[in-house]
Amino acid sequence: MKKAWLPLALTLAFNLNPAAAADDDLAKFQDDSRKIVKELATQLGGKLQSELKANGPASTIKVCKDIAPAMLSEMSRKTGQRITRVSQKVRNPLLGTPDAWEQKVLADFEKRLEKEKPGMLEFAEVVSEPQGKYLRFMKAIPVQGACLDCHGGSDALDPSVKETLKAEYPHDKATGYTLDQIRGAFSFKKAL
Ligand code: HEC
Repeated sequence: MKKAWLPLALTLAFNLNPAAAADDDLAKFQDDSRKIVKELATQLGGKLQSELKANGPASTIKVCKDIAPAMLSEMSRKTGQRITRVSQKVRNPLLGTPDAWEQKVLADFEKRLEKEKPGMLEFAEVVSEPQGKYLRFMKAIPVQGACLDCHGGSDALDPSVKETLKAEYPHDKATGYTLDQIRGAFSFKKAL
């Protein structure tokens, strides 16, 4: 009788219950990911503005094209996970195409957009995949004024931008956006 209590006591003391442990991991992961998004968004926003002021819209393309993927790649290496930007309407299909889970979450964000602000949309879950369990998190990226130069409707695009986009992304789907839609989402995936 006495012995039967031991496993329970241990479970309570050391949180050996796998479900509870995963919940704790998920909460911490979500919190850490939010901080990373904030840092990335602030840095990218700043770089977009300063580059636009200094060298004009066509030259600003490199911020979204080179600097953003480089920052995500560095952050992925540093934190031992995969951090990407995904979208339902991609400009770069190699980096931006969502997997099945990401497609589902993006579709859900579009529905939630009817009642929630784009900047508030996020979702976290522990997902079992053939390779194992993963912590996954997505946070929507709202369309802001600064994005319309390159992701807005045809009349919002500077001719120099239009020309560059047409040459470099002949299959571009990432235009025609308006304020407060979502451009896509930051997506985090970490092995549990
Ligand atoms: C000066 C042009 C320019 C501006 C301004 C710009 N982008 Fe982009 N954006 C691009 C280009 C070019 C790509 C393709 C990047 C690549 O090749 O991986 C891109 C890709 C993206 C992607 C990755 C998904 C995809 O479609 O390939 C996201 C997300 C994104 N932009 C969000 C934004 C947001 C949010 C803003 C405003 C804060 C913004 N962009 C402003 C040019 C721009």
